[in-house]
Amino acid sequence: MRIAMLGSGFIARFYATSLHAQRRKDEVITVYSRNLENAKRFAEDYSLAHFTNTMEEAIQHPEVDVVLISLPNHLHEAAVAACTKAKKHVLCTKPLGRTAEEAKRMLDMVEEAGIFGGYLEDLCYTPKFLKSMESIKNGSIGKVLWAKSRETHPGPHSDWFWDMEKSGGGAIIDLGCHCVEIGRNFIGKNVKPIEVMCWADTQVHPIDAEDHAIGLVKYANGAIGQFEVSWAFRGGMDLRDEVMGTEGTIWINSFLRTGFEMFTSGKGGDGYVAEKAEVDKGWLFPVGDEAHDLGYPHMFTDMFSAIEEKRDPLETFYDGYVVNAILDAAYTSAKTKLWEPVLLEDWRGDEPQEEEKNWVSHDNNYYLIKEEVLPNGDVKLILKHKNTGEIIQKTKLKN
Ligand SMILES: NC(=O)c1ccc[n+]([C@@H]2O[C@H](COP(=O)([O-])OP(=O)(O)OC[C@H]3O[C@@H](n4cnc5c(N)ncnc54)[C@H](O)[C@@H]3O)[C@@H](O)[C@H]2O)c1
Repeated sequence: MRIAMLGSGFIARFYATSLHAQRRKDEVITVYSRNLENAKRFAEDYSLAHFTNTMEEAIQHPEVDVVLISLPNHLHEAAVAACTKAKKHVLCTKPLGRTAEEAKRMLDMVEEAGIFGGYLEDLCYTPKFLKSMESIKNGSIGKVLWAKSRETHPGPHSDWFWDMEKSGGGAIIDLGCHCVEIGRNFIGKNVKPIEVMCWADTQVHPIDAEDHAIGLVKYANGAIGQFEVSWAFRGGMDLRDEVMGTEGTIWINSFLRTGFEMFTSGKGGDGYVAEKAEVDKGWLFPVGDEAHDLGYPHMFTDMFSAIEEKRDPLETFYDGYVVNAILDAAYTSAKTKLWEPVLLEDWRGDEPQEEEKNWVSHDNNYYLIKEEVLPNGDVKLILKHKNTGEIIQKTKLKN
């Protein structure tokens, strides 16, 4: 694939570094930045033949197959519109829109133009996440009941993130989009998100948006998603997921404690340890290959293979739209302090159905509630009578 990069900032560099690493065959061939000097510097750093400060010029470059949107949130829609006009495939960073309304317009534009729309949700492509999904799909942890995802750090690196008009909000839109999509994947993308309860506050920074929030997303099959996001967390970037299923559990720590710990007095080094690390001496928690551990190579492989194979990628514009709808409900709930419905005018998954409970039978008369081996070796059974509902216990004595 020959790629046009829109934007030359933080994520554009992460993407380009991933794309040009390890003899990959896909290459960025042009970059757009509103500031020509920045475009030139980016082009030099990644050995690109072309750079421009006109967005349309980058998109319409005759050799470009696919456009990668790495611009601030308020510019995503206009960039998608320009791609549809030029009939170029488009990959957009997260969040897709600032609201579901905006995301839906982008989804419609891409579908009407018949071009490919990939949603660059990298955290749904980390090696640990993909392996977890495999285990969940093969039934290793049973039915997922609760999926909790946390992203917290000391706050973003550019002015526009802190300006609600440009970003669409604070930590919820910026970080919640990752956590919500992680939860949706674990619980099942076909399962309809029904309603959201969210607490949000501006605890630390002098901004209008929230810098800390916790939310619950209720799904049609009874599962609950939980997101915990903050721009007020100290100590680096904390990326953690916990999944609880009827047959098992998964805990993932993706960034702050990956099994790599190092102490330095501060001599040597270039000051960079890992994204959002706050210190560069003392005990440090570096990340071996950040791009890889954050999912970028697997994400681009899926996106480009999907274009070639004319199939959907794992993360589509439609997914981006659903995420935005869940986040819209979270913002409403943070204001009303009530459970708020997820408003999805376009739902493509399963319709909610009355759920069947598969209680485990102990015998003809009783359901088994719980079995536990006690410290003395006896086994205790807690049972419920199928007709009367009476709860009893039986103890099997150790021989
Ligand atoms: N893990 C991830 O997937 C991830 C991580 C960080 C950022 N992002 C997303 O990437 C996008 C960009 O974020 P970033 O961190 O690279 O920000 P950034 O500020 O580092 O870079 C933004 C780029 O857009 C340019 N820009 C800013 N305002 C502009 C304007 N009005 N017109 C034209 N260009 C303008 C800047 O010059 C810069 O090149 C955002 O949507 C953000 O949410 C995704």
